[in-house]
Amino acid sequence: MHKLIIQGGNPLRGEIKISGAKNAALPVLCAALLTSGTLKVQNLPDLNDVTTMLSLLKEMGTSISTNNHSDVELTATHLSKLVAPYEMVKTMRAAILVLGPMLARSGEATISLPGGCAIGMRPVDQHIKGLQSMGADIKIEHGYIHAVAKQLQGARIVMDMITVTGTENLMMAATLATGTTVLENAAREPEVVDLASCLIAMGAKIHGAGSDIITIEGVKSLHSAEHRVMPDRIETGTFLVAAAASRGEIHLLGTQTNSLDAVLDKLSEAGASIESGNDWISLKMKGKPKSVNIRTAPYPAFPTDMQAQFMSMNCVADGTAIITETIFENRLMHVQELKRMNANIKVEGNTAIVHGIPQLDGADVMATDLRASASLIIAGLVAQGETSIDRIYHLDRGYERIEEKLSQVGAQIKRTN
Ligand code: EPU
Repeated sequence: MHKLIIQGGNPLRGEIKISGAKNAALPVLCAALLTSGTLKVQNLPDLNDVTTMLSLLKEMGTSISTNNHSDVELTATHLSKLVAPYEMVKTMRAAILVLGPMLARSGEATISLPGGCAIGMRPVDQHIKGLQSMGADIKIEHGYIHAVAKQLQGARIVMDMITVTGTENLMMAATLATGTTVLENAAREPEVVDLASCLIAMGAKIHGAGSDIITIEGVKSLHSAEHRVMPDRIETGTFLVAAAASRGEIHLLGTQTNSLDAVLDKLSEAGASIESGNDWISLKMKGKPKSVNIRTAPYPAFPTDMQAQFMSMNCVADGTAIITETIFENRLMHVQELKRMNANIKVEGNTAIVHGIPQLDGADVMATDLRASASLIIAGLVAQGETSIDRIYHLDRGYERIEEKLSQVGAQIKRTN
């Protein structure tokens, strides 16, 4: 099993190019199932989750051609297999995103129920409820969701809670339904907007993506299109926090600033100087960061996917921070690992109280999920001595060549077997 070994203490300095967003790429790839035409996708990140999604789409009958890993053409002339098996869904929950498109296009879909995962129970009841409102007959048997609908019908769907992939699944399904679908209490995440712009390029009629009410007028069919995946706002945020925590200076290229307001505000509050243009952000941190309180919530508030990284920065900040996780019930597992590095953190329910200390100690730690892995890297970068991070397969699901990118800006980090 691979591990990352980090020698801490070097401030990050230099330039990094940001990759395409994992959480935008995965739904966009699934949109290819909605048409017999060809969907050309650019700026795909080279990640294990993307490879798993491409394998699943291939298994379902999509032909896939690629020149290099970032440009892919997908053609689902007809879907030969309408099943997403347990083996695939258990490694990547986002496989649930094939349900809506598969059902809308073929009138039938069978997909393994995703189980709970490290960060929480993560049920998919809202995906199911929405499709049922659109007329699907859904049975759950032997761990599989079986959905049938000769023709989905437009419906008004009020979601019980804000769900990102739930909104994406229903928006994709509604593009081929008869009549109009209105999704209320929809997710406003930039990745939902990115998917909507891909679907609109394919001929879908969608209004309101980016607001909490999305209206989709169904069309008979969608057609070939090209789409460039948006830059990864979480990868961007992760490198910014790493630079701030290490008291460095970093310039990020090929990114987007307008999807990062909540994160940039917190970095400024911590004492960082930030400058940005259309597709770049620079951050400079002079001296020790100040502690910043964090409360996660759906977009445009502070993202749960950045909570763990800010926790690491707070471990070495001036003062005390209160971090509250409101999206997932079990997303404070990095605390135990940070404590192995001598961090001063107390957990009460879904809240962590982090007292900043002068320096963390390098230690052997274990990654528990994707963003927890990133937080341990940041902790390792600012710790005294060597940190060894085990179970980094989580990291390879969502960060493209992270150790190469960090080495470029002065981190002493290497992968070992
Ligand atoms: N929820 C339900 N029922 C549902 C759907 C969601 O109860 O039918 C609950 C979840 O259990 C959770 C909350 O609603 O408590 C929000 O979950 P959401 O559905 O929004 O999460 P997701 O769509 O499964 C996506 C990202 C996550 C990110 C969350 C929140 C993708 C592929 N994944 O997950 O990304 O944390 O939104 O922003 O888009 C990551 O990249 O590390 C990651 C976990």
